Amino acid sequence: MILSPNSRREFLIKSALLASGAALPAFVRAAEPKPGKSPSAEPTGELVFPDDFLFGVASAAYQIEGAWNADGKGESIWDRWSHEGKGEVTGDVVTDHYHRYRDDIGLLQNLGVKVYRFSIAWTRIFPSGKGPVNPAGVAFYQDLVRRLKTAGIRPAVTIYHWDLPQALEDEGGWANPAMADHFEAYARLLFRELGGEVSHWITFNEPWVTAFCGYWLGSMAPGKKDFNTALAAIHTILRSHGRAVQAFREMKCPGKIGITLDLFLGLPASQSPDDQRAAEMINQSHHGWFADPIFKGAYPEMVVAQYRKNGYAVPEMTAADRALIQQRIDFLGLNYYNTDTWRYDPKGWAPYDATKVEPEETLLLNPDWRPDGLLLLLKRLHRDYAGIDIIITENGLESEDFVNHRGKINDHARIEYIYQHLAACREAMNSGVNLRGYIVWSFLDDYEWGKFGRMGLVHVNFKTLQRTVKKSGYWYRDSIARHRFTLP
Ligand code: FCB
Repeated sequence: MILSPNSRREFLIKSALLASGAALPAFVRAAEPKPGKSPSAEPTGELVFPDDFLFGVASAAYQIEGAWNADGKGESIWDRWSHEGKGEVTGDVVTDHYHRYRDDIGLLQNLGVKVYRFSIAWTRIFPSGKGPVNPAGVAFYQDLVRRLKTAGIRPAVTIYHWDLPQALEDEGGWANPAMADHFEAYARLLFRELGGEVSHWITFNEPWVTAFCGYWLGSMAPGKKDFNTALAAIHTILRSHGRAVQAFREMKCPGKIGITLDLFLGLPASQSPDDQRAAEMINQSHHGWFADPIFKGAYPEMVVAQYRKNGYAVPEMTAADRALIQQRIDFLGLNYYNTDTWRYDPKGWAPYDATKVEPEETLLLNPDWRPDGLLLLLKRLHRDYAGIDIIITENGLESEDFVNHRGKINDHARIEYIYQHLAACREAMNSGVNLRGYIVWSFLDDYEWGKFGRMGLVHVNFKTLQRTVKKSGYWYRDSIARHRFTLP
């Protein structure tokens, strides 16, 4: 079954809850989205971008590297999770990028990208999360960034993309406030060893997923199931983010630093105040809970009140935490995949009194194909967060790609998907949004958190590990070269 990122996430949540016998929250009861189409007023013209606009592709360590225990690497929570048989496959080999990175850099060069976003496996650097450094791990990433620079590609590094060292999870994981010390030490080492070469640093990828899927819903590693633990985890993550930004400034590390949030847009099912409030609750709990502390120094009031009403323990934002978390960042990374519609329902998704409206009910068929939502979201972020520079750090389509008898992969849907989302980007920029880059998820077909997924601009045969650039990859390359995008 092909699962789009949104439905894939819901699938993971759903399986976990079904396995545990728990009642499904309303938002996972919605039907799987049907294949849909873009909104009616579709752009078709040429999209021109400024010369300094950053086009790129992204990956993450556990999703492509393989070599899970090579050269002194320690065990991460995702190694543990997949070895316990959770999910259909493991990340033990995947694309074997760890051994093939030199050739993969050649592929990146062929794609003509200006920036390559990848993540560091913490357990290659500190096998136990802290303590002795593993020099082989440091050397691997040093060589990677050096070669990228030589190839004319800017490295954009995600410091944490979900693969926590298991040894730190055993000490309580992100819910343990001492994690901020370990994260800062890890970040400092990266700034020192790689700092001269990296153009963009991303402290965390999608902390919503880390906290809620990992510690509340239990659908992802480490698979814990407690709402208060998830709230505590977010608080530590935000403090750890602040500690890394502080260290970055103090060390006068060159380059820019920011954080990547997964922000979908919640639209109200109707103009009724109740539905509007329900959608706003979803947005505030998803965007505001992470971005407000960073930009405004506080958790959003309406969500605080809602959590308290439900008896949850909202972590206290002390004056010291506020100052730490509110460090100035240079850009906000946005991972965009979907837009959903919500209505008020006191019996709905427990902490939020909201229910996701099934796509059919709204006639908007596919929540994963909503460039209009991206435009609204970009404008909203621009308005709410002081015109911060934004980089789209992920956006992409999962599809059933196959190699045809001529050895080609004609993934036309992906081309149209990227084009339509770039049209939304262009329009947002026309209206004043400070959008600085667009990074496609993903570089290679990869491990999509429990299964193999085909979201790459480059196809990977998971048996032979052979790479083949898809039609979308060639289209992206030619378009980047001209900074102009048209539909073929
Ligand atoms: C995002 C993750 C990324 C990838 C895409 C499809 O939530 O950040 O690793 O799996 O979804």
